[in-house]
Amino acid sequence: MRAAVMLDSRVEPAAANDAAAPAVCQGKASLAAAAIAPVLGARDLVKRYSGLVVTNNVDIDLRAGEIHALVGPNGAGKSSLLAQLSGEVRADAGRIDFQGRDITRLPPYRRAQLGIARTFQITSIFLEMTVLENVSVAVQVRQGHSFRFWKKVGRDASVLARARELLERVGLSDHAGRLASELSHGQHRQLEIAIALAGEPKALLLDEPMAGMGLEDSARLTRLLQSLKGSVAMLFVEHDMDAVFALADRITVLVYGQRVVTGTPAEIRSNAEVRRAYLGDLS
Ligand SMILES: Nc1ncnc2c1ncn2[C@@H]1O[C@H](COP(=O)(O)OP(=O)(O)OP(=O)(O)O)[C@@H](O)[C@H]1O
Ligand SMILES: [Mg+2]
Repeated sequence: MRAAVMLDSRVEPAAANDAAAPAVCQGKASLAAAAIAPVLGARDLVKRYSGLVVTNNVDIDLRAGEIHALVGPNGAGKSSLLAQLSGEVRADAGRIDFQGRDITRLPPYRRAQLGIARTFQITSIFLEMTVLENVSVAVQVRQGHSFRFWKKVGRDASVLARARELLERVGLSDHAGRLASELSHGQHRQLEIAIALAGEPKALLLDEPMAGMGLEDSARLTRLLQSLKGSVAMLFVEHDMDAVFALADRITVLVYGQRVVTGTPAEIRSNAEVRRAYLGDLS
């Protein structure tokens, strides 16, 4: 497995190289460069826990509108990397930029306000409220209303219309009036995505969205994420390689805290050492 760390990580040039391109780019070419400018990017990120380096000089870019999968063996540092991007964990070194702004020192709530959403924190769902109410609260928060006025603005037609639109988008319209506690595991995930989308994020970070799901729920969530492609950039950690290859525009492989390679699904599939070191483990 150690050998994988030595893999060539230059299948695709890092965005820092892309950023250098405008000097020679004119017209259409510079438009193309702008189109793939990263919405969220990390440079030389380092995180240590005691003697353990869980993030080892990692560079990663999430481009506008793309679905980017982060894969690697257990303990590779995938969740830790996501947590540093969302701000829950402070990096020891390196830099994180969001839409051209240095956010390395910003706390999670500020990053959320700027447009970085993180899903699958079950606490974001109020189980004793209906599905529609849950999304309505998120829409209200987005619109700047206080929770205290929930009852009053809960009757606000524009809030309800927006909440219904989001439920439609995630496929939960038929469940709007049900208590959130009555939903299945897969439907909870759909609801969490509706809540995250209420904030109109530019980047959505998902840690193992398919975890614990049966085949049917997993296929439904894959279709949902596919349907969102282009509207929000998504970085997702996933062990389900069928979902990864079905969804991802690009895949980053992390092993022992190091970025081994970033490439398209075809490039990752055909990378002999990744196959041997990681994909082979799963098939
Ligand atoms: N708060 C912490 N304190 C100490 N060690 C930690 C902490 N969080 C994570 N680690 C360690 O960092 C390493 C990477 O953990 P992380 O959860 O990021 O891996 P992962 O790639 O998400 O793994 P998995 O696929 O199992 O979810 C592991 O060895 C883990 O034990
Ligand atoms: Mg993890």
